Formats: sequence, C-alpha cells, structure tokens
Amino acid sequence: MKAAPALDVERIRKDFPILQEQVNGHPLVYLDSAATSQKPISVIRAISDYYLHANANVHRGVHALGERATEIFEQARRDVARFVSAEERGVIFVRNTTEGLNLVAQAYARPRFGPQDRIVATIMEHHSNLVPWQQVREQTGCQLEFIGITDEGRLDWEDVERLLRAPTRLLAVTHVSNVLGTINPIQELVRLAHSEGITVCVDGAQAVPHMPVSISDLGADFYAFSGHKMLGPTGVGVLWGRPELLEEMPPFLTGGSMISVVQLDHTTWDEVPHKFEAGTPDIAGAAGLSAAISYLEGLGMDAVRRHEEELADYAIEVLSEVRGLTQYGPRGSDRAGVLSFNLDGVHPHDVGTILDREGVAVRAGHHCCQPLMGRLQVAATARASFGVYNQPQSVAVLASALGLVSKIFA
Ligand SMILES: Cc1ncc(COP(=O)(O)O)c(C=O)c1O
Repeated sequence: MKAAPALDVERIRKDFPILQEQVNGHPLVYLDSAATSQKPISVIRAISDYYLHANANVHRGVHALGERATEIFEQARRDVARFVSAEERGVIFVRNTTEGLNLVAQAYARPRFGPQDRIVATIMEHHSNLVPWQQVREQTGCQLEFIGITDEGRLDWEDVERLLRAPTRLLAVTHVSNVLGTINPIQELVRLAHSEGITVCVDGAQAVPHMPVSISDLGADFYAFSGHKMLGPTGVGVLWGRPELLEEMPPFLTGGSMISVVQLDHTTWDEVPHKFEAGTPDIAGAAGLSAAISYLEGLGMDAVRRHEEELADYAIEVLSEVRGLTQYGPRGSDRAGVLSFNLDGVHPHDVGTILDREGVAVRAGHHCCQPLMGRLQVAATARASFGVYNQPQSVAVLASALGLVSKIFA
C-alpha cells in the first residue's frame, strides 16, 4: 500500500493567492522558494490586521495601541523561541539572515579576535556567511580558512578535523546549502567544535523553513534565519544567540530603544535581547512571522520535511532523464528540496528565461555562492527549489519545459 502523502497540497495551494497568477499565459509554477517563499493569506492578513487594528510603536506607548503592538511583537518572540526550541531571551529580531550574521561578526568576533586567531568557514557558504568574516579578517588581522567539499557536495571531513583545532575560535557554517541542498551534520560539528572550545555560528536560512530545527538540540551558539523564506514577510529575520554570550557582547547598532540610561558622556544598555534591537523594529513583519509560524506548525515540520524530501527525490529521478543535464549535490537523506543543474551548452540564464516563458520560475546565477561555483567549475547554475505548495506535477512541468530548452538549443 502506498503511504499517505505528507501534505494535502491541493488544500495548501488554496491558501496562497499568488499561485492563481498566470505567467506568460501559463499557470505559475513557482520553484524559487529558496530565494523567497510565497505567503499564505493568513500571513498577509496578519500584516494588514496589525496596521488596521494595532499600529503603534512598541515598548514605549502608555496607550492601548502601544500595548497591543508590544504584545504582538513580544508574542512573535515567544513564537520564534517555541518554533526553534531556543531560549526566548536569545531571540533578536533583525532584518534578515545577513544582518544576523553581520551582528555576530561585528559584535562577537571583531572585538575579540586578533592575528593569532582563526575563523573557519566552508566553501559552500552563501556570501552572507562569508563576506562578514572577510571583513573581520580585514579589521582584526585574524586568519580565515575554509573547509572544502567532496565531489558529492558534502563537507570534506578531513578538512573539518584538521581545521577544527586550536587556534580556531569560530566556525561559521550553513545548516543547508542553498545550491547543493546538502544538510550539514550541525550537531556533530558543534560537538567537535565545542570540544575544542570553538564557538559555532550557523546560517539557518535554508533549514528553518523546511525541516524541524531545535537550536537547543543542535547546540549552536548563534543561529540566523530569515522570515521571508519561511512563508513570512520580507524585512524581519532572527538571530538567536546564547544569552551568556550576548550579555558579554557590545551592541551592534546603537541609538533609541536599546539603552537603559543615556547621559552626555556615558550610556548604559538595555537588557538582552533589547540591547541588540536599536530603533523601531519591523512590528508588522513580526506579526506576519507569527502567522507564518502558526501556519507551518499547523502543517507539522516533520510533514513539511517529508513532503520536500519526496519532491526532491522525484525531481532528481525525473531530471536524470533529461539528456545533457548535470545535477549538483548529494543523493541521500542529507538532502533538502533544492536542486541545482546545468544543461550542456546552454547558459543557465537562457534556461531560466525559456522556463519563465512556460510559466516556470527557477533561479539562475551564482546564487550568492561564487566560491562554490568555482569549486563546481561552473560560472552559474539553474536552481529549482521546493516549498509546501509544490506538487510532483510542478516537477513534471519543469521536466517538460527543460525538454523544450534542449530542443531549442539542439
Ligand atoms: C544559505 C543562505 N544564507 C543566507 C541567505 C541570505 O538571506 P537574506 O537575503 O534573507 O539575508 C540566503 C538567501 O538566499 C541563503 O540561502
């Protein structure tokens, strides 16, 4: 007997108004969720409801709307903490993953590291988890080294063992690669790193939206992710930091909302996490993020993961039959719903453009991973990435549109 589908995708699709769009005369087949996800109507409504019924600034109003806005914002913090099983005091609202990682680079690494220290990252990092560490190297003179990958697209464990030794101070690693789909063994990496006294900063942008994530089980010291990739709005993201470390760190941005007492010659900081939330935050974004979390919790993250794993397996199988198509990334259970590929003799931008004519949205380019492109010996790839609203049929449409690309370039 066939197992029941992990998700009722027909029903889910009704919650995403944008999926009714026609693109170039075709029904939209959205396969670019790794860039940003689409939003269910509940998220869109939570944002408009906030502006319709609760708009005010947070943490300062003595009036009713101020209290409502503060409650919505702080509820979002509790929702995030529950969703990723992490201590609430460590949840800092930022704009996106990029800002969260820059916060760690500038407020944790920069003040502590010097020429004798080493940061280790991997060559599969998104530029967001690479360029901030290059900046720290410029600013402090510290060393920056990289763990390579195997031909299958997994971390090279010899490099891991070699580099995770003193004097390494920080490991910066992605949980899931946005190009290869590789799910890195974060728990194991953290165990190894911590046994050497190394702090671990994880880029969770492609993990939190697609699988159950428990930051406390992973044991990471810092963990960043973006609301917009997890069915939530753009403009809000999260950095979770171990509260003991956050306590010791200077603020990243300064100004209003993050202070305790300001005098002309001296200022003291508010408590963690508020010390890291300077200025008016994205309150509407937090309302939307709460709704996105409720939506994902309603589906169940185990089911979301199973659904996307099945889609990825199916896509790998179907696309293997497209002549001249090379796929990147590992085969196995350590693989998320991201599939990068190239067609012989066709530039990925041409692939993307022709697919778009058929209503299929994929991403083409270096995916903000230029060093990884170098390792794969390509300038760019096309990439299909899946979400809760994709069906096997979406993969079938992709495959037949790729057949058309091959025919055009034959
Ligand atoms: C693995 C990974 N890290 C970081 C980012 C950056 O996310 P954001 O642009 O939301 O800061 C992305 C976005 O594509 C990503 O895929």
